Amino acid sequence: MTDTPLRIGIAGLGTVGAATLGYLTGENARIAARAGRALRVDAVVARDRTKDRGVDMASLRWFDDPIAMASDEGVDLYVELMGGADGVAKASVEAALAAGKPVVTANKALLAHHGAALAELAERTPGASLHYEAAVAGGIPAVKALREGLAGNGVTRVSGILNGTCNYILTEMAGTGAAFGDVLAEAQRLGYAEADPTADVGGFDAAHKLAIMAAIAFGRRIDFDGVRIEGIESVAAEDIVAARDMGYVIRLLGVAERGAAGVSQRLRPCLTPAESPLGKIAGVTNAVMLEGDAVGATILTGPGAGGGPTASAVLADIVDVARGNTPPTFGVAAAALTPADDGANDADRGAFYLRVMLEDRPGTLAEVAAALGRSGISIHRMRQHDHADGAAPVTIVTHACDLAEIEAAKERIAALDVCTASPVSMRIVES
Ligand code: NAP
Ligand code: HSE
Repeated sequence: MTDTPLRIGIAGLGTVGAATLGYLTGENARIAARAGRALRVDAVVARDRTKDRGVDMASLRWFDDPIAMASDEGVDLYVELMGGADGVAKASVEAALAAGKPVVTANKALLAHHGAALAELAERTPGASLHYEAAVAGGIPAVKALREGLAGNGVTRVSGILNGTCNYILTEMAGTGAAFGDVLAEAQRLGYAEADPTADVGGFDAAHKLAIMAAIAFGRRIDFDGVRIEGIESVAAEDIVAARDMGYVIRLLGVAERGAAGVSQRLRPCLTPAESPLGKIAGVTNAVMLEGDAVGATILTGPGAGGGPTASAVLADIVDVARGNTPPTFGVAAAALTPADDGANDADRGAFYLRVMLEDRPGTLAEVAAALGRSGISIHRMRQHDHADGAAPVTIVTHACDLAEIEAAKERIAALDVCTASPVSMRIVES
């Protein structure tokens, strides 16, 4: 055990920061024993100095400026838990790395947008390193599993349920029939949701995590702009019921995989069998499925959000820094990461679920069937749901077709006089 303490500065004392500080003070001896080195929180910064954080901070140096704390000579390790892709989070992380310090962050937005540049800065600056276990799937050690545990594999696919707030909303809506807004408010109260919850329900938060995992899995420069993103805002109660009647549940799935056209990255609500590994994931739980040529398929599940679980991942990175474990940020040297593939997202073939709202009068179904036929799509199942007024929701499951065919069919159907709302489609993913 090294007696020279690792002096830690924590920026951000919200859900994650306060929990991290609580463990580092309350469980210091246990964590330091694992680290093999004394750990001392030396300095903190947040916006409001008067706020009660549930931890005695009398002995800690308070900073008003995160960049000043990141650059301070008394801070050996900078822990960034404020959030935000740009602004002070980015500037302070850059300051710490440029000063040759290790950085631990939970900030997936920062990594997704600037991960390649930050990794290059970390790897060319002696003493600097970048650690971000908490940025992917909260308490699940997904980064370590992929980067270290599967280092010998040619990874073929990474997928999963990567946003606790959305999974909580989808399972609560299905289980209780509660309205979307009420369930989202509860997720915010429980500390699952981002400061701006549109990052959750719009799919962006999960897409950040998918882009990070895809960079590690496929040794590519991180490519957030290359993720095809669709959130859960268009998922309606009737979709959840229709899916359930067919043995499926709706989950916001992230999938990055290597195909003939390159590496695709898609984040979208999908129908998946209720009894499949991902279909069984309920509530705020996240799941990460990693598939490699040597190992086959592995799945990790656990809490993807909240103070304690996310602090667990932050603490693991702090222990790594104290031990001197500093693997390349994305698993291979930043300079060796390959460029992203263009166009791979379009090569998407499988069965789709389609919901269309139609005027309830003779001949409407025939018009929809004709539009599907003209788009080259064969119908596997079709059902008209109960309805009280003039518009009838019709749900359709197709045989395998191309994404481009579904998009063309939706355009044709939307243009029909009998169609009263934009058609909604979701991919059916059987595994
Ligand atoms: P949060 O509860 O909103 O806390 C943010 C903290 O940062 C607050 O203490 C705030 O200060 C401080 N802060 C914000 N802007 C600042 C500024 N300009 N200068 C100084 N301090 C500033 O956020 P969180 O949920 O803990 O999330 C923190 C990070 O962890 C984010 O990157 C998030 O994406 C990531 N993350 C969160 C979770 C989760 O479950 N919450 C899970 C995984 C990753 P005040 O308290 O004084 O306002
Ligand atoms: N808002 C995120 C979620 C926090 O709900 O999963 C964890 O990244």
